[in-house]
Amino acid sequence: MGKDPQDLPGLDPFRCSRRNFIIMGHRAVSDGSIFLNDLCGASGRWDGLARALSSGLFLSHDMRRDTSIHLLLLGPPDPPKVISIDGARVKYLNPDERASAALMRKNLRTKLGEDAGTTLRTSPGIHLTRGGLETILDRIDGPVFLLHESGEDLTDCMVNGGIGEGPWNFFLSDDMEFTDKELSLLRSRASGVLSVSPLSLHTYQAMILVHNALDRFG
Ligand SMILES: C[S@@+](CC[C@H](N)C(=O)[O-])C[C@H]1O[C@@H](n2cnc3c(N)ncnc32)[C@H](O)[C@@H]1O
Repeated sequence: MGKDPQDLPGLDPFRCSRRNFIIMGHRAVSDGSIFLNDLCGASGRWDGLARALSSGLFLSHDMRRDTSIHLLLLGPPDPPKVISIDGARVKYLNPDERASAALMRKNLRTKLGEDAGTTLRTSPGIHLTRGGLETILDRIDGPVFLLHESGEDLTDCMVNGGIGEGPWNFFLSDDMEFTDKELSLLRSRASGVLSVSPLSLHTYQAMILVHNALDRFG
């Protein structure tokens, strides 16, 4: 297959999209041992991460090319590590959860250095980065928004011009709450805490509502 001229070798996965979703995977398996027959249990809730990946990147007949998804893998055996998927450049991604988890598993088989911030392109539009929340916060460009049902209504905030022109970085947790340490780090850097519903939603549902607000008012 010919080389994609847009898939530049030096591309920073945290700075190539206008919409960035960063999702905590508190127990998510962090190497190529994701167990496809048990994404929910033995793989540390990779089912939710794979669903968030599909919801974040797929349209009915297209990809959201302005969006990157960054999954922060904090489970065993090789945390902390981020796998970033760029909607403009990724290839071989399928909306089916098991297939997307399989593609992530294949990419996670590549060995990554130990130095925080080390980034490796593992396939078109997919990068691995060594590091946790602090590394991500150091690398991203643009404002940080923490998503939580207790926050300010996103559409009200947008109508009042409160989230700017982008790029945007939206931080969400998985089925577990953010830890106190994560919350204090995020709050110290966040431009705001945003809510998309008065109800507590699944991560992928909250992401779809963020996309919808940006599609309509952004
Ligand atoms: C399943 S929820 C987190 C766990 C949930 N709070 C619980 O009690 O089990 C997943 C994530 O989606 C986001 N989220 C859920 N509901 C939301 C809402 N109404 N507004 C904004 N973000 C929301 C938050 O980032 C949350 O951490």
